[in-house]
Amino acid sequence: MHRRSFLRTVGGGVISAATAATLAGCSSALPPEAIAAWQGPGNEPDVRRWILAHAILAPHSHNLQSWLVDLSVPDEITLFIDRSRLLPETDPFSRQMMMSQGTFLELLDQAARQRGQRAEVTLFPEGVFAPTTVDARPTARVRLVADASVQADPLFSQVFRRRTNREAYEPRVPPTQALQAIAASTAGGAWRTGFVTTAEAAALAEHRRIAKEAWRIELTTPRTVLESFKVLRVGPREIAQHRDGISLNDPMVRALTALGLFDRSVAPAADDQATTGQLTEFNAHIDGTPAFYWLVTEGNDRVTQVNAGRAWVRAQLAATAQGLSMQPISQALQEYPEVAVPYREIHALLDAPAPRHTVQMWARLGYAPAIEPSPRRGLDAHIVKA
Ligand SMILES: Cc1cc2nc3c(=O)[nH]c(=O)nc-3n(C[C@H](O)[C@H](O)[C@H](O)COP(=O)(O)O)c2cc1C
Repeated sequence: MHRRSFLRTVGGGVISAATAATLAGCSSALPPEAIAAWQGPGNEPDVRRWILAHAILAPHSHNLQSWLVDLSVPDEITLFIDRSRLLPETDPFSRQMMMSQGTFLELLDQAARQRGQRAEVTLFPEGVFAPTTVDARPTARVRLVADASVQADPLFSQVFRRRTNREAYEPRVPPTQALQAIAASTAGGAWRTGFVTTAEAAALAEHRRIAKEAWRIELTTPRTVLESFKVLRVGPREIAQHRDGISLNDPMVRALTALGLFDRSVAPAADDQATTGQLTEFNAHIDGTPAFYWLVTEGNDRVTQVNAGRAWVRAQLAATAQGLSMQPISQALQEYPEVAVPYREIHALLDAPAPRHTVQMWARLGYAPAIEPSPRRGLDAHIVKA
């Protein structure tokens, strides 16, 4: 779901924004402890911890941060997926989860290079997961080897600046040279990436139509809405307590929650203002987005998914370096039955018919106002206790 301003309009305007702000104490800044990880590891002497303190800043679907690491073998990091943090309704085959393991590995690799370490990554060292489930075996084993010849990655400088930006984007189209820099950041991989901009009006209109329809479906399918509700963190107390999920900190939502007017155990009806208000805002953002990015793979095995995640964070870092923002719009890429038509349509539009091809990522791209980083649980929450 990924909405910051969820339920801004719920309650039919019963409470004014000003009243809500007063009730909730006004500030919409995130609690400092929730975003402390973005201060970085400082002079952390343990090189693995230093590296991992960067990896946990990776993007993850619904900000679930489903990363567990075992550090019991010296010079090694074994990565597992935290199976208590999955999204079975919207990500039934854990494809996005695998991509989110990939984003972590990419930042790990970049941070290792920064410290003169070569990260030798072996994916699925005890065997690859089945196509539809994940299990207790590791996703990756990483051996760190000191190597004076490793090259730093210029994208590393963007790790602390990268954000998933869900604001309205400016109408100006990113220049060709910026698009080329984003494409170049993942050149040579086993995927195809591309862009559509206002220069291709008919195609852009189709992108917008499919994105809006898929979002409408997700928001009006009770079980997919409820899945997002489970990871909503409303207000500073919940945000600081969980430091994951979808943070909602605007005064109106906080006030409605405090007044018991936002029941997260019930999916709002399709004509409820909670739904229509969100759709209106999302549609406006989509209609105002001047460019979209996509990443397509041939095949969709687990290794391909992890590597697509690595590519995605590289593209987002490259966009950041260009002063651009990105926001994934995953709804039409999801594999649950209700969204099958938009799924087929986006694959056809990108000349990537399924099942041979998979659109692994589709994202808004443009210039956007600066925003705060999103919460992180902190490194210790990810380390498997011996
Ligand atoms: C595979 C994948 C799918 C994602 N899908 C969406 C999406 O559909 N909508 C959205 O707003 N953000 C999406 N995100 C972004 C995450 O919500 C975001 O990474 C997370 O909230 C952490 O925020 P950050 O990227 O600013 O650090 C996705 C991220 C990944 C890795």
